[in-house]
Amino acid sequence: MKVLLLGATGTLGSRITPALLSHQHQVVVFVRSENKLKETLPPSILSKVAVVTGDATDSNAILETLVNHDCDAFVNSAGQSNVFPWQAPRMQEIINAVATAGVEASKKLNHPMRGWFLGGLTAMCVHLEAVFTQRRHHFQL
Ligand SMILES: NC(=O)c1ccc[n+]([C@@H]2O[C@H](COP(=O)([O-])OP(=O)(O)OC[C@H]3O[C@@H](n4cnc5c(N)ncnc54)[C@H](OP(=O)(O)O)[C@@H]3O)[C@@H](O)[C@H]2O)c1
Repeated sequence: MKVLLLGATGTLGSRITPALLSHQHQVVVFVRSENKLKETLPPSILSKVAVVTGDATDSNAILETLVNHDCDAFVNSAGQSNVFPWQAPRMQEIINAVATAGVEASKKLNHPMRGWFLGGLTAMCVHLEAVFTQRRHHFQL
């Protein structure tokens, strides 16, 4: 599969990237900073992924990436771990943006989009039920 990974510079994302590659998936990473990505992943892994820069609250940019790269799936590990230093919670915004982009991309690409969310369960309960029950045929969760 071709998989879009959001959060590749994080604790989970930096481990998910080589794991996806080791299972022969093609990987597109969506990160805020390409420089941080270069500090996070070794060149042997970096050379095998496509890199797109953007913010995970920008649903249009995520949609564009999913469509332009003809992705079959996404993994969202963009978010915040509940560890110091505390940050303003943007999890709801991220979940909304990623979920909406996933649904819209499946419509544009005319195939189901698989999605994995590594965090944000509370935000998902609010948003995803409404989105996915309406458009279940476009989405596998
Ligand atoms: N670590 C665990 O054991 C664990 C277990 C279960 C669930 N989770 C959940 O999984 C998610 C990731 O955890 P983690 O430990 O990998 O967290 P982390 O190390 O803090 O990494 C967070 C990642 O999200 C990215 N990010 C945050 N806001 C963003 C935005 N607006 N746009 C684009 N990227 C953004 C960060 O990018 P930058 O590098 O640019 O900041 C970073 O790559 C969290 O929701 C967490 O609650 C974690």
